[in-house]
Amino acid sequence: MSEELTATAAIVLAAGQGTRMRSRIPKVLHPLAGRPIIEHVLVALSAAGVERPVVVTGHGAEAVEAAVDGRATTARQEPQLGTADAVRVGLGPITDPATDIIVTMGDAPLQPPELYRNLVAERRRRGAAIALASARHEDPTGYGRVVRDLEGGVTAIVEERDADGPTRAIDEVNVGTYAFDADWLRGSIARVPASASGEHYLTDLVTMAIADGREVRVVEVADATDVMGINDRVMLAVAEERLRRRIAEEHMRNGVTIVDPATTRIDAGVEIGQDARIEPWTILEGATVIAQDAVVGPHAHVRDSRIGPRTRVWASVLEESSVAEDAQVGPYAHLRPGSDVGARCRIGNFAEIKKSRVGAGSQQHHFSYIGDADIGENVNIGAGSVTANYDGTSKHPTTVGDRVKLGVDTMMVAPVTIGEGATTGAGAVVTRDVAPGKTVVGMPARPIELRRRSTAPADAGGDPSADAAPVPTGTDRNSQGGG
Ligand code: UD1
Ligand code: CA
Repeated sequence: MSEELTATAAIVLAAGQGTRMRSRIPKVLHPLAGRPIIEHVLVALSAAGVERPVVVTGHGAEAVEAAVDGRATTARQEPQLGTADAVRVGLGPITDPATDIIVTMGDAPLQPPELYRNLVAERRRRGAAIALASARHEDPTGYGRVVRDLEGGVTAIVEERDADGPTRAIDEVNVGTYAFDADWLRGSIARVPASASGEHYLTDLVTMAIADGREVRVVEVADATDVMGINDRVMLAVAEERLRRRIAEEHMRNGVTIVDPATTRIDAGVEIGQDARIEPWTILEGATVIAQDAVVGPHAHVRDSRIGPRTRVWASVLEESSVAEDAQVGPYAHLRPGSDVGARCRIGNFAEIKKSRVGAGSQQHHFSYIGDADIGENVNIGAGSVTANYDGTSKHPTTVGDRVKLGVDTMMVAPVTIGEGATTGAGAVVTRDVAPGKTVVGMPARPIELRRRSTAPADAGGDPSADAAPVPTGTDRNSQGGG
């Protein structure tokens, strides 16, 4: 293992159009395993010890600059006169006294940090002007070819469009990643001549170094896929598959069971604790954190959410939400942004929660909607219970105290508060606050003792507002919302 890079700066080229993507989005911003392509390059450079590289922008400059903000310095290349011209522009902001300058492409997201370390180590070991990476390709079409002499030393890189038949037959290609002697690069970059097409090729530096009596080293990479540049969406899909497998394998090596890596999609940056188990057909996206011993899937789609220890989530969608320990979510639950589900909760079939807290030990088993609500601990949310949180103009809050029992089909017309330990009857439409411990029934829901009086024939002083709907008596056996 080579050590962290010191005295090394880096330039990432990303000004090109990426025509073959046939996209209105700059190529390096297409998402790959949950991050823009170029961010993978910056993360790998940072892992190698290179902080704040210079990203050369051009096509779609504003969008690219916004995407790399905070991670990189940017320099604009306007117009785009080729890769050597791009490096000249990229050298501008580099002021630290680096001995080495890494140059790489913003569209090569799979390159491992070791590649950067190895190139710098090789260049320094030999005092070379350039160390460049090469790979063998079954189909080298489109790449610059690495031309070597009889002793095996590199003599030139010849671009596809300038290559004759025998040169095109060479299967060793230029990856596009280099370590340069910083001083030599600064003194040489402006001397790169224009090619027939008017572009200044960075690859011309190879023959220039040799003419200067300097050495050029080649570091051959074993796996060409690891260093591929993404040119079109077919390659994007190949990179996605490769990266997904790499991510899954890393988690497995860290003690996570992934039952079926082929049907599991885990974004770069997702954290998963030891002995967690990821079941098939599961997608974990963004800044998701899964605690140890959790079981997620089959068929879970989790984005930017936290899942606590020993919690089970299956056949459900979670967005920007959190579920504490020992809970069960699913099948068919949808936690929309801002949901915070407590320990030991049971959130079941066709349950939707949005921007709400559900306290520890509460249960929401059957087709129910809780939105903009604060639900206490050990609350039973009966089947079909719904917060009517939206009056057509604005959203209103609902508060449900600890140990409340919401009967099946309770409508909570917000804003409304149901006090601790209260009970609502089946079909209650709660339009006014309910005092702690009270039982309310009917539509609109009223305390059960008032309802009873109103329906008793002898009671002339009954509640005039009560309707004639049949009213449950005592603790209605139907009011607990199923099992
Ligand atoms: C380049 C190399 C080729 C190598 C291949 C590997 C040159 C001349 N050729 O070819 O030897 O095999 O990469 O993928 O360097 N860019 C700019 N400004 C420009 C032109 C390009 O920033 O004026 C950027 C592009 O955004 C891209 C990178 O440089 O990220 C490479 O440019 P591209 O046109 O794709 O070069 P290739 O023809 O693939
Ligand atoms: Ca390319």
